[in-house]
Amino acid sequence: MKILLTFLFFTLSLAAVSQPRGNAARMEQRILSLARFGANPEGGVSRVAYSDADIAGRNYVMELMKTAGLEVTVDAAGNIIGRRKGQNNNLPVIAFGSHIDSVPGGGNYDGDVGSLGAIECVELMNENKIFTQHPLEVIIFQNEEGGLIGSEAICGVLHPASLALISNSGKTIRQGIIDLGGNPEKLSEAVRKKGYFKAFVELHIEQGGILDQTGVKIGVVEGIVGINQWAVTISGKANHAGTTPMNQRNDALLAAAKLVTAVNQAATSMEGRQVATVGRIRAEPGAPNVIPGKVEMTLEIRDLSHEKILSLFEIIKARGTQIEKESGTRITYVSINENLPAITDKRIQGLIASSAKELGLSASLMPSGAGHDTQDMATIAPVGMIFVPSKNGISHAPAEFTSPEDMANGASVLLQTILKIDKSKL
Ligand code: HGY
Ligand code: MN
Ligand code: MN
Repeated sequence: MKILLTFLFFTLSLAAVSQPRGNAARMEQRILSLARFGANPEGGVSRVAYSDADIAGRNYVMELMKTAGLEVTVDAAGNIIGRRKGQNNNLPVIAFGSHIDSVPGGGNYDGDVGSLGAIECVELMNENKIFTQHPLEVIIFQNEEGGLIGSEAICGVLHPASLALISNSGKTIRQGIIDLGGNPEKLSEAVRKKGYFKAFVELHIEQGGILDQTGVKIGVVEGIVGINQWAVTISGKANHAGTTPMNQRNDALLAAAKLVTAVNQAATSMEGRQVATVGRIRAEPGAPNVIPGKVEMTLEIRDLSHEKILSLFEIIKARGTQIEKESGTRITYVSINENLPAITDKRIQGLIASSAKELGLSASLMPSGAGHDTQDMATIAPVGMIFVPSKNGISHAPAEFTSPEDMANGASVLLQTILKIDKSKL
C-alpha cells in the first residue's frame, strides 16, 4: 500500500513538473507594456473602446499574436481573431481570449490578463511543440465594457439599432467598428453558428475578494450574472431657486435622490446576491440657482436569475410611481442593455478543476458578479471561465492588481484546459 501511494504521489508530482507553466516574467512585462496605452497619471488606464488608446493597444496585441505565429484578422465587427491550425482543420474550433478595452479610469488587469494569457498559451504550445487536433482561435473581443458588443456580433444578437448608440469614446458603435477595421454593413460575416466552436474558455481576474481572502489560487466559474441597464429620465420643472417656495417645486433632482435611495432599498430588502446601482447622474440645467428641471441617470441590476432582475425592476418602478406623485415629476425608463445570465458547462468546469489539481493549484467553484463575453458565447458553444485572484478584490479602478505568479497560474490552467478539451468528447 505504502509503495502504491508513493508511486501515485510520484506520478502526480511528475505530471505537475512536466506540464508547461505560464512565464510570469513575460506576462508581467506584457501587462506593463499594454498599460502604456491609455495610461492615467494616478495609475491604471482609460482605454475605452474605439479610442486612440484602444486602437494603439490593439495594434500592440496584434503584433504579439503575429509574432506568436497566429494568423491574425479583424472580423467585420472589429474583433481580433488569431488562428492556429490544428492537425485536423475540419474539426470545430476551440476558442479562448478576452478583451483589452477598459472602463474610464480602469485598471491594468481586467480583460488584459485573459487576452495576454491566451497569447501566453500559444507561446507555451510553440515552445513545447504542442499541436492540437482542433484548430484554435484566440479572440480579443471589441468593446466588452460597453455591453459585450463584439461577442454579441459573433453570436448574431447585436441589434442594428445598437450601431447608433454613443459609446464611452464619444463615437457611435458604427463609427467605432469602422475605426477598428471592421465593416458595420457586413456584420453577418462575423456571426458564428452553433457547432462552429467546440468550446470557448476565458481566463479573467476575479474582480472580487473571494480568492484573495481565502488564499485559493483558481476560481472555477459556475455562472455569470445577467446585467440589465436602463436610461432613466426624470422630468420636473426648472424654476428660480430663490423665489420658488419649497412647497411649489417640481424638483427633478430631489425625485432622483429618492429614486436612488429606493434602488438601494429594493436590492437590500430581499435575500440573495442581487445588486442594483445608479452609476451616472446628470441634472439640467446644472446651475446653483436653478431648481433642476430634468435629470438623466442610469439604473443597472445584476443577478444570476433574469426573473429576479425583472421583479426587482418592477419593485423600483412601483416606488418610482409614488415618487412621481410626491414630487410632481414624470419618470421614464428606456432599456439600454441586456446581457442574459449564463451557466458554464459542467464538463468544462470539471476539466478546469482537474487541470488546476494536476498543476498543484487549489481551486473552488464560484459565481461571477461581473459580466463577460463568455455569457454571450454560452449561447452558441459550451463555455468555461477561469478566475485568478484580484488583490483586495479591487477592480474597475487604478488599484486593480493581480500578481505575475497568479497570472502565470491562470495561463497554465488555461493551456491544460484547452489541451483536455482537444482530447475530450464534450
Ligand atoms: O461591467 C462588467 O461587469 C464588466 O467588467 N464588463
Ligand atoms: Mn470590466
Ligand atoms: Mn473584463
